[in-house]
Amino acid sequence: MGLQIRPSGSALGAEIIGADLTRALDDATFAQIRAAFYQHEVIYIRGQALSDEDQIRFTARFGALRQLRLASQSHVAHAEIFVVSNIRKDGKPIGSYDAGSLWHTDGAYLANPHAISALRALEVPAQDGRTLGDTQFASVSAAYDALPQAMKHRLEGLQAVQSFEQHLAKTGGGGVKKDIYSTVKAAAEVMHPLVRVHPVNGRKCLYVTEGYTARIVGLPEDESRDLIAELAAHCIKPAFTYRHNWQQHDLVMWDDCSTQHKATFDYPASLPRLMHRTTVVGGTLH
Ligand code: OGA
Ligand code: MN
Repeated sequence: MGLQIRPSGSALGAEIIGADLTRALDDATFAQIRAAFYQHEVIYIRGQALSDEDQIRFTARFGALRQLRLASQSHVAHAEIFVVSNIRKDGKPIGSYDAGSLWHTDGAYLANPHAISALRALEVPAQDGRTLGDTQFASVSAAYDALPQAMKHRLEGLQAVQSFEQHLAKTGGGGVKKDIYSTVKAAAEVMHPLVRVHPVNGRKCLYVTEGYTARIVGLPEDESRDLIAELAAHCIKPAFTYRHNWQQHDLVMWDDCSTQHKATFDYPASLPRLMHRTTVVGGTLH
């Protein structure tokens, strides 16, 4: 059977059907998947019980993987795997337990933010026949395109400060979050363009999130705060979003330039959720 690409019907997201990720893909199949990824910005492959090795092999085709495993995640064999989970062992969290509590993009606080993230569901909380803990995605390329021309002009050339300290302050982030920032040796703040040009497809992307964007350089404080709030709210309008309802064995990949995302904490702590993430290195932004 050939490869099938089935768009989600929302502004972004497409399911890839008919690719066996338990083996090395041939170049032609991979090229089709890669093109679908940069077109749809989020892709998902369902129903394949992948191993960490399968996930690493497939996602490394998109670019070199970062080694983000934390010291507290030594129960996983590969340094390329980052654990997202609410599970505790001997009272200690086995992974990042509050990943995605605010809208964000991964690694925005780095000089070279992550290019792509891929999350694989090993355990998904379920209640009354329904899986919980959806992840929402927003297309910030679609959000940019929909801005009035006057706003596009106003944003031209602006830079914003992305700050993990703001994120920590907003989430009350504890030990695991601090481990994440020290693992990648992040500076407290970095400056990035407010509008990024996508390195692969050239689309313009709004780079403003509730989680990390602290201020716009050169604007008075109140104007900066209001503009960040206005743009962040614009990005997540229903017209630009896709909500992924997880099933066990799903692998979801997202573009960290053209999308932002947020987790849904609608499940009780007694229901385990376990995800393994791999992350493709990004370049320096100019
Ligand atoms: C992440 C993340 C959200 C989720 O892994 O980067 O934000 O729903 N996850 O687990
Ligand atoms: Mn994230």
